[in-house]
Amino acid sequence: MARTTPQAASPTPPNKTESILSARGIQRSFRMGDSVVQVLKGCSLTLREGEFVAIEGRSGSGKSTLLHIMGALDECEGGAVEFEGQDFTQMSSTHRSWLRNKKFGFIFQFYHLLPELNVLENTLLAAMIENSWLSFRSNRKALHARAIELLEQLGLSHRLKHRPSQLSGGERQRVAIARALMNNPRVLFADEPTGNLDVETGRQIMDVIEKLHRDSGQTIVMVTHDRALAREADRVLVLKDGKLEKAE
Ligand SMILES: Nc1ncnc2c1ncn2[C@@H]1O[C@H](COP(=O)(O)OP(=O)(O)OP(=O)(O)O)[C@@H](O)[C@H]1O
Ligand SMILES: [Mg+2]
Repeated sequence: MARTTPQAASPTPPNKTESILSARGIQRSFRMGDSVVQVLKGCSLTLREGEFVAIEGRSGSGKSTLLHIMGALDECEGGAVEFEGQDFTQMSSTHRSWLRNKKFGFIFQFYHLLPELNVLENTLLAAMIENSWLSFRSNRKALHARAIELLEQLGLSHRLKHRPSQLSGGERQRVAIARALMNNPRVLFADEPTGNLDVETGRQIMDVIEKLHRDSGQTIVMVTHDRALAREADRVLVLKDGKLEKAE
């Protein structure tokens, strides 16, 4: 269980009126054999600094697809996603990967931890990807200290050498949260972060996410099909028939 809230590196309070990420008219389809399924038919969303937005919708409505596009993990066919004033859908894939590793953090339903790495190594992974080998070597001590601090805050200091297979689901998700926070992301994307957990463990993970938002001003976009969890965000949008609507 988390003891304190993992802190963003900068204590600067967020300016809640400032738009940090803006998706406009996002379109995406998938080809299945001879037919084409239009999943996103023009989704628009402006995210303000320090905001916690939940996107809900039925299974297959396109929530993960939209989250992946907003987090530069996938490309769209129409529309634009502006982050810090620049449309990254027009950037090269190298530039997009750089932006993604440096500015965004991700938490997924099935954790996506590397099974052969221990807890500390999994947490350091984002920093390894973001830094060149030389820069990682020279910053090794500071990066280790940051990873250990995050893991301590998430109540995992006694599990540093454990592999994912030796952890509970809730512990795995807390490692994934530590990894996502390692590079101090400007936006944290969470795709069904409690979807694979029992109710009580899911509640603990939700508490960590909420505290991150409340105490550190972390900007968060969370996808869920659980209406009760979505209601804990500042703003709830529903993805329906390929478009985003305000929740009732
Ligand atoms: N790579 C792909 N190839 C073909 N179809 C895809 C692909 N990715 C997603 N789809 C289709 O797009 C639709 C939306 O998928 P998506 O995973 O975004 O839904 P979701 O809202 O996240 O669902 P869930 O709540 O079950 O996670 C689904 O019908 C899915 O089958
Ligand atoms: Mg999904």
